[in-house]
Amino acid sequence: MKPARSFASDNNAGIHPQVLKAIAAANQGHVIGYGDDTYTDSAVRKFRQHFGANTEIFIVFNGTAANCMSLKALTESHHAVLCTTASHINTDECGAPERFTGCKLIALPTDNGKITVEAVEHAYHGIGDQHHVQPRVISITQATEMGTVYTPAEIKALAQFAHKRGMFLHMDGARIANAAASLGLTLRQITRDCGVDVLSFGGTKNGVMGAEAVVFFDKKLGRDFLFLRKQGMQLASKMRFISAQLEALLSHDLWLKSAQHSNRMAKLLERELRGVPRVKVVYKVEANGVFVQIPRRAIAKLQKRYFFYVWNEEESIVRWMCSFDTTEQDVQQFVKFVAETV
Ligand SMILES: Cc1ncc(COP(=O)(O)O)c(C=O)c1O
Repeated sequence: MKPARSFASDNNAGIHPQVLKAIAAANQGHVIGYGDDTYTDSAVRKFRQHFGANTEIFIVFNGTAANCMSLKALTESHHAVLCTTASHINTDECGAPERFTGCKLIALPTDNGKITVEAVEHAYHGIGDQHHVQPRVISITQATEMGTVYTPAEIKALAQFAHKRGMFLHMDGARIANAAASLGLTLRQITRDCGVDVLSFGGTKNGVMGAEAVVFFDKKLGRDFLFLRKQGMQLASKMRFISAQLEALLSHDLWLKSAQHSNRMAKLLERELRGVPRVKVVYKVEANGVFVQIPRRAIAKLQKRYFFYVWNEEESIVRWMCSFDTTEQDVQQFVKFVAETV
C-alpha cells in the first residue's frame, strides 16, 4: 500500500491547518481586489516586522515568477545573471528567467549548491566590452538546491563583491525559512543584514497553499514592480486569499516551527540512513533535503511505493525531502523499506 506521505518534495505536502483556517477566515463578505484589502495590508505589515521598515513587498503566485520578476526588476537585456549550474533558475524554470529578462544566465559549477566569490570573480569579465553581456546580478539560493545553507559570512562576501562593482545580490528564498531555522538566525539576519538586495520569499514549500513574495530591501529597486507584476500576470485579483496565507505563516512563528520540524526530520532521516549499507548520504544535510547515492537497481523498486525524483542519473543520486507534516514514523517506515530494498 502507498503511504500517505512521500519524500518526493516539500511541495507534495498539503496545507498547514493554520493556513487553511486563515484562508477560510478571509472568506467573509466582499473586499476590494488586487491587493487593496486589509488582509494584504496586514501581510505586508508582518513582512515589515520581520525584515524591517523601508522594504517593499509584492505578493505573487509562485516561486518561478518571484525569481523572474525580481531579476527583471534588476536588469536590462544586455545584462547577465550569475548563478550555479544547479540553480532552479537555470535548470527548472523552462528558460522563463531568460524569456522575461532577455538576459543571459551564466551558470557556474558548484560542488555543494553554493557560489563562491572565486567563481564569481572568474566569470566577471568583459566589462564595458560591447561584444559581451554585462554581469549585473549574482543569484544565490538559500537553502540551496542541494540542501546546504550559506553562512552569513558567505552571503556578505558575495554582496560586497556585487556592490563594489555596481551589481546586485538576488536570493531565491524558496526555502529561506529552512535556512534561517538551520542557522538559528532571523529572516532579516540572513538577507537584508547580509546585503541581499532582493529576495524571492518562499511560502509554498513551508506549508502554505500557494503564495510567495518579492521583497525589495531598497525601495528604489521596486519602483516599477507594480507594473512588472501585472505584465508578468502575477497580480491576483482575489489577493486576500494569498495574503492571508502569508500572514498566517509569518504569525506566531509558524514559518519557524514548520521549518524547524522539516529540518529535524531530514536530520533524523540522515541519521537513520547512515546505518543502512549501500546507501551513502552525499551532501551535508543542513536544511530539509537529504541526497543519497543508492544502487541504481533499487530506484525503480523504491519509487513503486514512494515516488521521488532522481537528482543525478549518472551517479545514481536521489533527493529525499521532508516537510512540515513529515512524522518520525514516516521516516522510520521509509528507512525500513529502503533497507529492505537496497
Ligand atoms: C530553489 C527553488 N526555487 C524556486 C522554486 C519555485 O518554483 P515554483 O514556480 O514551482 O513555485 C522551487 C520549487 O521547486 C525551488 O526548489
